Amino acid sequence: MSTSLPQELLKEIDKRRTFAIISHPDAGKTTLTEKLLLFGGAIRLAGTVKGRKANRHATSDWMEIEKQRGISVTSSVMQFDYEGHRINILDTPGHQDFSEDTYRTLTAADSAVMLIDSAKGVEAQTKKLFQVCRKRGIPIFTFINKLDREGRDPFELLEEIENLLGIRSYPMNWPIGSGKQFRGVYDREKTRLELFQGDDHEHHNISVREVSGYDDPLVKEVAGADYLYEQLQEQLALLEIAGDAFDYEKVWTGELTPVFFGSAINNFGVQTFLDNFLSLAPKPQPRSSSDGVVPPSEEKFSGYVFKIQANMNPAHRDRVAFLRIVSGKFERGMTVKHVRAGKDIKLAQPQQFLAQDRDIVDTAYPGDIIGLFDPGIFRIGDSLCQGSQRTFDELPVFSPEIFAKVSIKNALKQKQFLKGIDQLTEEGTIQVFKSIGFEDMILGVVGQLQFEVFEYRMKNEYGVDVLLQRLPFQFARWIVDEKVDPGKFRVNSQLVKDKSGNYVALFENEYALRTSTEKNPTAKFLETAP
Ligand code: G4P
Repeated sequence: MSTSLPQELLKEIDKRRTFAIISHPDAGKTTLTEKLLLFGGAIRLAGTVKGRKANRHATSDWMEIEKQRGISVTSSVMQFDYEGHRINILDTPGHQDFSEDTYRTLTAADSAVMLIDSAKGVEAQTKKLFQVCRKRGIPIFTFINKLDREGRDPFELLEEIENLLGIRSYPMNWPIGSGKQFRGVYDREKTRLELFQGDDHEHHNISVREVSGYDDPLVKEVAGADYLYEQLQEQLALLEIAGDAFDYEKVWTGELTPVFFGSAINNFGVQTFLDNFLSLAPKPQPRSSSDGVVPPSEEKFSGYVFKIQANMNPAHRDRVAFLRIVSGKFERGMTVKHVRAGKDIKLAQPQQFLAQDRDIVDTAYPGDIIGLFDPGIFRIGDSLCQGSQRTFDELPVFSPEIFAKVSIKNALKQKQFLKGIDQLTEEGTIQVFKSIGFEDMILGVVGQLQFEVFEYRMKNEYGVDVLLQRLPFQFARWIVDEKVDPGKFRVNSQLVKDKSGNYVALFENEYALRTSTEKNPTAKFLETAP
């Protein structure tokens, strides 16, 4: 007997977990991802894990820039099954030059895994990505990596997480020593020891021993040195007295992060992390829309585009729109409403992912990401729905922080230049502003890499060589006021207009921003377009 759609839908939703790993380059994201994939049969490796070594090619090296730098420019998706779950990992570019795509990808995740290098603690990029997750209020799980190396004191690391990120923490397990003295972890909930078996990068590096508590004689035996045992007793006792209690509600609202210690490269603590993560992390969550909150269990299919990527396969010169399914079941060939365009479209060629091999999806469910062939009809934020006109509120626009004046080397290419800028703005590759009076074109991005991608694509897709001249601004604020007085934005700042004609002030530093806010008490200074 076939199950009815609601039952099937609920079952598929319950199985799914869609998350992103947030970290600073070098913390071990690629390594952790690889280990996670080992636990399940990877179904689809979408533009997967970057190649650190020459013999390991990323499937998504669709662009020269990627190859040259050995980084993954665009975020992609990996899907695998493990213990009855279907897991979608949204990959985010690990390079320092990350872009708006990285941020946008986070809007498609229902939770995040924050990966921290135990020797380095909370680093710049982790902080930025964390803040985007924080704004969305999604649960955040922490994995503190590289315990096999000398790292910082675990209390100091937790304190840093709390002070720099403003999130409380609950260590699920606790390390016994670190570096050469690393013995393993004590699992606080299961009261057991997970022992580190030394450097073996391929196999499960773990032996589990049940104990009656952390003062069990076995703990002492395992610790070896007296001082390690005493340190552990003190630390765990202190955690019990002064640490936060585990609070599921707070985990779900992103106020408390469960913390796990381990070593990704040694595959130590990864499975424990995965098992706990799967039981604690949310299944696909509702999204708010113009129709109110849309639960994933709604039978009518709906979703939104959070990213558009062009020319993933240079041989095809096409674009792909990435859609996060919010509700209902996706079936290949289905007709849906493209809400902004007011048209019905048939989703005949959805791809789970692209790169060189095209993998066609027949069905997909809430939490899944599908790539749609895009002949130029999609924009970031577009919604596709069955039987509704809804739009989603997942605003994937971020305040630019890096600016450059753009011009062309060959004036005869003006038309192509404008077309390129127009299309790339629409795709969300860059944001564009015009100076008042001079009509200079100014580009705004959140990561330097976006400029490089822009330059590359202008040349390769539109045949235009551009000149980019960096401007000293660091902040953009959309000014909402009855009467905007350009005279008030002269000191270390410039007033420009965005594509829709809104006034935007660009500031060189925080001081200039503060002074202008004080001088314009009636105006609102918004980080993104109103
Ligand atoms: P990323 O994607 O976050 O940038 O990090 P990646 O996984 O590439 O890891 C960065 C470096 O850290 C790699 O070393 C990796 O082997 C190492 N690493 C990851 N997890 C652990 C761990 O648990 N312990 C230790 N000691 N090292 C770890 P590399 O030398 O840059 O690369 P490779 O030559 O080893 O491939």
